[in-house]
Amino acid sequence: MKGLSVLGSTGSIGTQTLEVARANPELFRIDALAAHSNIDLLEQQVREFKPRLAVVGDEGRYLELKSRVGHLTRISAGIDGMVEAAVLKDADVVVTAIVGIAGLIPTYNAIKSKKDIALANKETLVTAGRLIMAAAKENGVQILPVDSEHSAIFQSIGENSRKSIARLILTASGGPFRSKSMEELEDVTLQDALNHPNWKMGRKITVDSATLMNKGLEVIEAKWLFDMAPEQITVCVHPQSIIHSAVEFIDGSVIAQLGLADMKLPIQYALTYPERKAMAGKKLDLFEIGTLDFYKPDLEKFKCLRLAFEALNIGDSACVVLNGANEAAVGLFLEGRIGFLDIGNIIEKVLQKHKASVPSTLEDIVALDLWSRQQVIELFETGCR
Ligand SMILES: NC(=O)c1ccc[n+]([C@@H]2O[C@H](COP(=O)([O-])OP(=O)(O)OC[C@H]3O[C@@H](n4cnc5c(N)ncnc54)[C@H](OP(=O)(O)O)[C@@H]3O)[C@@H](O)[C@H]2O)c1
Repeated sequence: MKGLSVLGSTGSIGTQTLEVARANPELFRIDALAAHSNIDLLEQQVREFKPRLAVVGDEGRYLELKSRVGHLTRISAGIDGMVEAAVLKDADVVVTAIVGIAGLIPTYNAIKSKKDIALANKETLVTAGRLIMAAAKENGVQILPVDSEHSAIFQSIGENSRKSIARLILTASGGPFRSKSMEELEDVTLQDALNHPNWKMGRKITVDSATLMNKGLEVIEAKWLFDMAPEQITVCVHPQSIIHSAVEFIDGSVIAQLGLADMKLPIQYALTYPERKAMAGKKLDLFEIGTLDFYKPDLEKFKCLRLAFEALNIGDSACVVLNGANEAAVGLFLEGRIGFLDIGNIIEKVLQKHKASVPSTLEDIVALDLWSRQQVIELFETGCR
């Protein structure tokens, strides 16, 4: 039986991880649960899964959570609590399902404590891929991808060697605005952006999917996970989201992984790897699907994807800035304070201001992240978008 520490247990990936655990009680034990502020759901999860530790990120909610379930489990709070959950002695695997760079420090600490990682929090690799992959190697830790595209690539690579890979083909649904014109994009609303055609996810990643920044972040994530050069990563728009990604080998063979759009599949695979376990639910029926379509992404219309490739080519610091500016700009968009196209325009301006470097510590990365967020606020306050 594997002990799991689920960071971000109340979110889309967190709750689906718990569904997988619920369906396989003989395989998984929940040792720690951690959320930011949704203590209503966290309380329910504690009552059902009886973890040894429950953490609320928002320290202002500590006493309330303690009064509700403090008699059932140990309660902790804040970033120290997140790290406590990440390094918990009994846990074998840490599921990093926190959204944003907030996942970085707990994930790094989990790796230092030799915990295997089921990685959903792509922002960790986007901002600190170099440090994280080095720490994983040094500590003999496996980083198992939960992102469906990276899980597909991981499965497609199988036992093949790194040098047999020619390129990775990352598929993208294209999001809700795939067929909209640039003029139409000027008028799209938050509600439109949150209406993803194929996947039900948290709000930040749903907006990232509409701008295609999510695909850009995934390109950077793939670079670090699979040790690829930027020019070895191709993005292919595939609206049906059936082919979750593919690998082209040096002999021209392409191996892909297919399935329905259900995150429980890559979550369960990351948790049971190297084994596969049966999973209930609808299975892929190719006759029902009929046709699969593929397009080149429009990098003019979806500026965020172009910016992600540019950041990757500039280097590590640009990826931190891209991510921080994106988180801040998406935050403003979610609050209804800027328009959809402003997101890419703001990120572009912040990237232009930054001076390239290779941050060598987590502190450098956190400082750069903060700098990029401050630039976004400044641009917003001066009406410069
Ligand atoms: N959803 C998907 O299908 C999917 C697919 C691939 C990859 N991912 C990646 O998985 C991660 C999570 O995505 P999601 O869609 O599950 O997001 P989500 O639904 O918004 O859930 C985010 C989780 O993180 C917690 N959280 C938020 N801010 C935090 C902070 N500052 N400190 C600690 N915890 C915090 C939230 O707690 P509260 O609920 O208390 O706010 C919640 O449990 C992202 O990196 C995303 O890119 C998601």
